[in-house]
Amino acid sequence: MTLAAIADVGRDRVRGGYSRHLFEPADLELREWFVERAIRIGLDVETDRNGNLWAWWGTPGPNAVVTGSHLDSVPGGGAFDGPLGVVSALDVVARLKSAGVVPSRPVAVLVFAEEEGSRFGVACLGSRLMTGAIDVHSARALTDAAGVTLAEAASAAGVDPAHLGRDDEALARIGVFVELHVEQGRGLVDLGAPVALASSILAHGRWRITVTGEGNHAGATPMARRRDPVVAAARAIVAVHDAALDSPGSRATVGRLSVVPGGTNVIASSVTAWLDARAATDALTRGLVDEIRRRVDDAVADSGCSVAVAAESWSDLVEFDPDLAAGFSGTLGGVPLLASGAGHDAGVLAAHVPSAMLFVRNPTGVSHSPEEFAEQGDCDAGVDALESLLRSLL
Ligand code: HGY
Ligand code: MN
Ligand code: MN
Repeated sequence: MTLAAIADVGRDRVRGGYSRHLFEPADLELREWFVERAIRIGLDVETDRNGNLWAWWGTPGPNAVVTGSHLDSVPGGGAFDGPLGVVSALDVVARLKSAGVVPSRPVAVLVFAEEEGSRFGVACLGSRLMTGAIDVHSARALTDAAGVTLAEAASAAGVDPAHLGRDDEALARIGVFVELHVEQGRGLVDLGAPVALASSILAHGRWRITVTGEGNHAGATPMARRRDPVVAAARAIVAVHDAALDSPGSRATVGRLSVVPGGTNVIASSVTAWLDARAATDALTRGLVDEIRRRVDDAVADSGCSVAVAAESWSDLVEFDPDLAAGFSGTLGGVPLLASGAGHDAGVLAAHVPSAMLFVRNPTGVSHSPEEFAEQGDCDAGVDALESLLRSLL
């Protein structure tokens, strides 16, 4: 029900779905909505040093039970990835409060900033900053597509960029973190179950492939004299795809391209292709990217263009605490464990505090797309499961 309250915020008329990017108007509106909704159910809201929002039931930490997710989206994303976890967390806390539960430890609903990395390029930016998983100087200097730095955007949103970075105080308050999330594949459809607990997250990272050629006139330049980076990048992208096909279980994607200068009658001077690569282990992912580098070099070799590959971000394989997951599964009467191909803030936190995830069935199996979906009954099952977990922890 609560998800309907934000159904009109950040709709993308061009791409379809939603585009809600850190500290842009839609994200600011969602953050404001969260604050109002949390206050309405009697929670105390604070923004931490990294722009993450905390809504507290009881005096802030330590040993708090913390649940939440994110409100930002990919460009043209679905309605559920992130917001489902936030609204479910708020609904559960509201339910527990109205049922007269008196928690034995603090409870917080947490909204992480820039989980998708859609504005500044680094996924799970809010949790990485909090845990010190990203160097704060390079984080401040990250730029969006318009050249605005994270430091500038934070400052404009009232978050002091001087205070960004590792926040041991915030982290020390988390006794356990539970993130509810829409499933982003068909695991639960195949299992015929509405909810699951997470077992692991693929190792993954992002790289930038830049192909540089020679900008020139589309009519005046004979085909034989061209150094066209779009053609070289096209070959490089096919090489990326083929490298992943030859490495079973691996995934490699180029979903974003920038062509400079980008004119119909202009041979481009450079192309940037962003690579997202994932595999079952850290070593397999690194190996896949090494192979991609070799194949991309070969693909571009005869084009007269040059190519450079630069790392943007990296996430180790995550294995969620098996004892915590087994205990939670017992509390829920035995639910399946599912591996995740998608990254999550809970995965970043898992290296520091006991963390778990609940997945809600997605009948389309599609995510990062307007087609992402979850049935009301399954969302209700997710809320019920989260309520049971919180009750067991309080
Ligand atoms: O990209 C991811 O895996 C996540 O959805 N942020
Ligand atoms: Mn996502
Ligand atoms: Mn998400």
